Amino acid sequence: MQVIRKIDELRRVLEKYRRAGQRIGLVPTMGYFHEGHLSLIDAARKQAEIVVVSLFVNPTQFGPNEDLDRYPRDFERDERLARERHTDILFYPDVAEMYPDSFYTYVITEKLSRVLCGKSRPIHFRGVTTIVAKLFNIVQPDVAVFGRKDAQQAIIIRKMVRDLNFPVRIIVAPIVREADGLAMSSRNRYLTETERQQAPVIFRALQEAADLVKEGERDAIRIKDRIRRKIETAPLAKIEYIEIISPDNLSAVSTIDQKGVFAAVAVWFGKTRLIDNMVLLA
Ligand code: PAJ
Repeated sequence: MQVIRKIDELRRVLEKYRRAGQRIGLVPTMGYFHEGHLSLIDAARKQAEIVVVSLFVNPTQFGPNEDLDRYPRDFERDERLARERHTDILFYPDVAEMYPDSFYTYVITEKLSRVLCGKSRPIHFRGVTTIVAKLFNIVQPDVAVFGRKDAQQAIIIRKMVRDLNFPVRIIVAPIVREADGLAMSSRNRYLTETERQQAPVIFRALQEAADLVKEGERDAIRIKDRIRRKIETAPLAKIEYIEIISPDNLSAVSTIDQKGVFAAVAVWFGKTRLIDNMVLLA
């Protein structure tokens, strides 16, 4: 595995592979790897001869009062884990490489970036689409893999790719969970022991919702209500949102009558904000 820190060098190396007819797969990350990230590397490997993992804690997607400064980092461990998963190139630029002085250009996916997480994080998705667009232009991957854990992010990126004609195929890989159902996230490490014990209530609430739909319930209000009541059984949980969402345009639906409709939630445990989602009608 090569660790590359400069855009020019990455482009030179990738050009050789591309000329040799090898397909390039990209897995964008902010590091502090867990099995969720590593599963994306495996998924990319199935589609491409050369797998590039980018590791960059992207400052433009953090709001002024968010966790940029304390975002967990451990490059040595990430390097080892990426190597063990047979990554070909670990792209690890610093902030000055990605955002030189006088950076003025942003990519914004209107509408979709303002709902759900976008309500409490108004500049978040602008930062995500901008950095992902930059990575697509730098790496020019044939395929790029994202996780379903961040359903809104994946849907926004698909939309950006369609709207701006990026010649890349987007793959969205399933959510990887801990044994007790908690969706893996680099931010789980912020949780105190008691918060961590209570956090799987999110998964159990989503499962109850999926079960209700299986039994024939189609009313979004009743399903949201069930999720809310379940999450509220955890004394430390503070709900930010619970929504039943159409995968087409991320709008809230009142009736579950379309394939792919999913429940999306954001819940705070102390200072930690957790998100999760589950498809209700497959
Ligand atoms: P990060 O949170 O590091 O996540 C990198 C990728 O891993 C994302 O596509 C995310 O959806 C996926 N992922 C995270 N947890 C997962 C889980 N439990 N199961 C499956 N996939 C999971 O998302 C970002 O970074 C950034 O916004 C980024 C796209 C890199 C842009 O900066």
